[in-house]
Amino acid sequence: MRSFFLPVLSLTLSLAASAIADPTLSPWKLHERRSHIPAGWTRTQKLDSSASVPLRFALAQSNIENIEALLYDVSHPDSPNYGNHWSASQIAAKFAPSTESIDTVRSWLIESGVEPHRMKLSPTKGWLEVASTVEEAENLLLAEYHVYDHETGTKHIACESYHLPEHVTPHVDFVTPTIHFDAKVQKRTDKSYGRVPIGQPGQGSTPKTTGQIDGLLTQIEDCDKQITPICLRALYGLWYQPVAGDKNSYGIVEYSPQAYVQSDLDLFAKNFSTGLEGVSPTLVSIDGGSVPTSASSFDYNGESNLDLEYGMTLVTKGQNVTLYQVGDSVEGASFNTFLDALDGTYCTFEGGDDPNQDPVYPDTASGGYSGQEDCGTVTPANVISTSYGYNEADLSAAYAIRQCNEYGKLGLMGVTFLFSSGDWGVAGNGGYCLNADGTQSPDGTIFNPAFPATCPYVTAVGATQVSSGKNVWEPEDACEQVIYSGGGFSNYFSTPDYQKAAVEGYLQANPISYSKDIYNSTGSRAYPDLSANGANYAVAIDGSFSLVYGTSAASPVVGAILTMVNDARISHGKPPLGFINPTIYSAGFAGAFKDITNGTNPGCGTLGFNTTKGWDPVTGLGTPYFPSLLAKWLTL
Ligand SMILES: *[C@@H]1O[C@H](CO)[C@@H](O)[C@H](O)[C@H]1NC(C)=O
Ligand SMILES: *[C@@H]1O[C@H](CO)[C@@H](O)[C@H](O)[C@H]1NC(C)=O
Ligand SMILES: *[C@@H]1O[C@H](CO)[C@@H](O)[C@H](O)[C@H]1NC(C)=O
Ligand SMILES: *[C@@H]1O[C@H](CO)[C@@H](O)[C@H](O)[C@H]1NC(C)=O
Ligand SMILES: *[C@@H]1O[C@H](CO)[C@@H](O)[C@H](O)[C@H]1NC(C)=O
Repeated sequence: MRSFFLPVLSLTLSLAASAIADPTLSPWKLHERRSHIPAGWTRTQKLDSSASVPLRFALAQSNIENIEALLYDVSHPDSPNYGNHWSASQIAAKFAPSTESIDTVRSWLIESGVEPHRMKLSPTKGWLEVASTVEEAENLLLAEYHVYDHETGTKHIACESYHLPEHVTPHVDFVTPTIHFDAKVQKRTDKSYGRVPIGQPGQGSTPKTTGQIDGLLTQIEDCDKQITPICLRALYGLWYQPVAGDKNSYGIVEYSPQAYVQSDLDLFAKNFSTGLEGVSPTLVSIDGGSVPTSASSFDYNGESNLDLEYGMTLVTKGQNVTLYQVGDSVEGASFNTFLDALDGTYCTFEGGDDPNQDPVYPDTASGGYSGQEDCGTVTPANVISTSYGYNEADLSAAYAIRQCNEYGKLGLMGVTFLFSSGDWGVAGNGGYCLNADGTQSPDGTIFNPAFPATCPYVTAVGATQVSSGKNVWEPEDACEQVIYSGGGFSNYFSTPDYQKAAVEGYLQANPISYSKDIYNSTGSRAYPDLSANGANYAVAIDGSFSLVYGTSAASPVVGAILTMVNDARISHGKPPLGFINPTIYSAGFAGAFKDITNGTNPGCGTLGFNTTKGWDPVTGLGTPYFPSLLAKWLTL
């Protein structure tokens, strides 16, 4: 994949030193500019110059250009190092920004009047944080901050572009809050300045429902009308009792204000899951994440209930599920909030500081610059399923690439990251498509890929269905009820090696009839990687059962299947799967998936792409068949 803003180490020391000594010698350079305001947002008033802005500088990381090769070394089935995953401290040591990067940015800030006690280096050294005011931030970055209003009423602080001195540029990937609409922004005196939390209903990333159902259909013949756990077991051959539950882990991430309701989990368990009644997932609260005790509505409980009812039931009571509840219900959270927790800054929280209550930037003038690599790192679960997503175009390329590299690092540590591929076919959340100028609108005509699904270091999960009149022993079709399986080609990431043959094979056998202006045909990361059922799920929500649709359902199901593969591997003394993509696309795994060859993923005024024999940008490699996957993975 491509890496932007790599450190350019060609500056000689004396040049760098003189540039630091006199900032005027180093002209400011445009660092990032937004081409347009994201859909749903309007720019309003200028921000009060005395308001506080926590500036975060994403420092350029060392060795990040090698991450793909490093990841293959431990994840490719032919590699002698397969499964030799890294420890958190190895990761920190390999990718920590160089001392030169840290010193250059710090020196510039000090020269510009920022006292050292207002700066804090994150434990992984990836971020330099500065407690700043709007006025100071505007001077540091030659930027103008405004308040942006979202149609849902939320507010966000951002600027249209920002600059850095030329000698600082190679050492910084990007700065937040600036042009990004995902950044975690806090204004402690006024809670309303958050961005729209990713778990907020109406963001288009939550599942859909056609409403309550009259009665549960629990016969295997009825799986075309209602999906219940037995249908999924039959479809994917998942008959397995875990034996290594105490050594294994399965994590499901939920973003507040979405939250599960225990009485609903119990209602589901009574009907479908022996021994799970009264059982809760193991809560890991991140940045104030909590689970309210009462139900509120499908919009707030649908996603979490779906993920946990099916996730917990399919792995049975022999395997606990870890719930990462991210963000408090006011601020919500971003994917980076979760990644921060897994990658080092979580220690602040574990140590008793809650970033939502306590000062985000404590006065730590000294210390913290060495020896903290392991500080507070949450041991991530072996498999982590996430059913939330953005459109790639909601984020800048630099921001998406940096986050994607973070998933790569967790892959190196042996974590399998699953993301739902989106519910709008080739369109983005809410059915929005791209226009030629980069804006998104419902009448746009250019396909709008999903993120993090397009990150080459995660596994993207699309959706299938048991079509009306068919049974679970017949092949499924691409999901064309209520939702369409998200799929297509990235605009930010190029084709990773592991899927080159599959994607080229598809394009050769199925020349795409669309104009090259509406999809990216220049050698991009294609998604999804695989798929699972996403239609007609019976889900207990707010005291009764509703029919639910979404790739949101498919991701936790695949997560449960991979968790059971991990159980078998662990009980055989083998390491967990880690990053699976190089393996599932490899020749040895041909036939381990049930190929989906019927259906498309419409969007942007088109029928989308065609499913076909082999991999396709609708259902990926197909649906997992547990007995085959288990047999193959036990040989690695
Ligand atoms: C699941 O968690 C409960 C409560 O912490 C614990 O008692 C039980 O042993 C765990 N089960 C497994 C299989 O680890
Ligand atoms: C199953 O769910 C229904 C609601 O659809 C509920 O009335 C019934 O009591 C549940 N079954 C059991 C065995 O609890
Ligand atoms: C298509 O994707 C590539 C990365 O694979 C990117 O460099 C290029 O800018 C994208 N094209 C468009 C029109 O976004
Ligand atoms: C999908 O297949 C149909 C029938 O073979 C074909 O007419 C159509 O052009 C294909 N779609 C694309 C996007 O290539
Ligand atoms: C293709 O899928 C549709 C539902 O989307 C279904 O009605 C049809 O029977 C399927 N065709 C075949 C050949 O299986």
